[in-house]
Amino acid sequence: MSAIYILNGPNLNLLGVRDPSIYGRDTLADIEERCLARAASLDLQIEFRQTNHEGQLVDWIQEARESADGIILNAGALTHTSVAVLDALLAAELPVIEVHLSNIFRRESFRHHSYVSLAATGVICGLGAQGYERALDALANLIEREPEEADR
Ligand code: DQA
Repeated sequence: MSAIYILNGPNLNLLGVRDPSIYGRDTLADIEERCLARAASLDLQIEFRQTNHEGQLVDWIQEARESADGIILNAGALTHTSVAVLDALLAAELPVIEVHLSNIFRRESFRHHSYVSLAATGVICGLGAQGYERALDALANLIEREPEEADR
């Protein structure tokens, strides 16, 4: 069974109470539950984690490099700042789907640039919690194909 790491960065532990008009009312635990259900129906195994620390995120991406077949990443604000996260993703050589709950392109201009996108196979933003499920669908599809193709 293919394994997918679903990694969440800073402040995403506050989902449900943080700016619900932007991020919705679902908590991170609600999103994990939805991902578990979707993954089961796609025959995927998931590892769902959140951290507020850049180094921890880098460590988990390096772990995924050894143990996973794909990564779904919502790096939160680190999306817009972290070359370290980008380098870890590039080193992982895995299909990566970047997810944002909000549509970052409708927001402040500093959110329009994403380091993560430079290593991402695809980007889903603005669909709320549903974006994570759609990212699982996309990875299931990519992994079914040739591994070299999934990297593109
Ligand atoms: C976010 C968008 C980022 O700009 C922000 O810093 C977040 C959440 C999103 O899911 O919409 O923390 O990644």
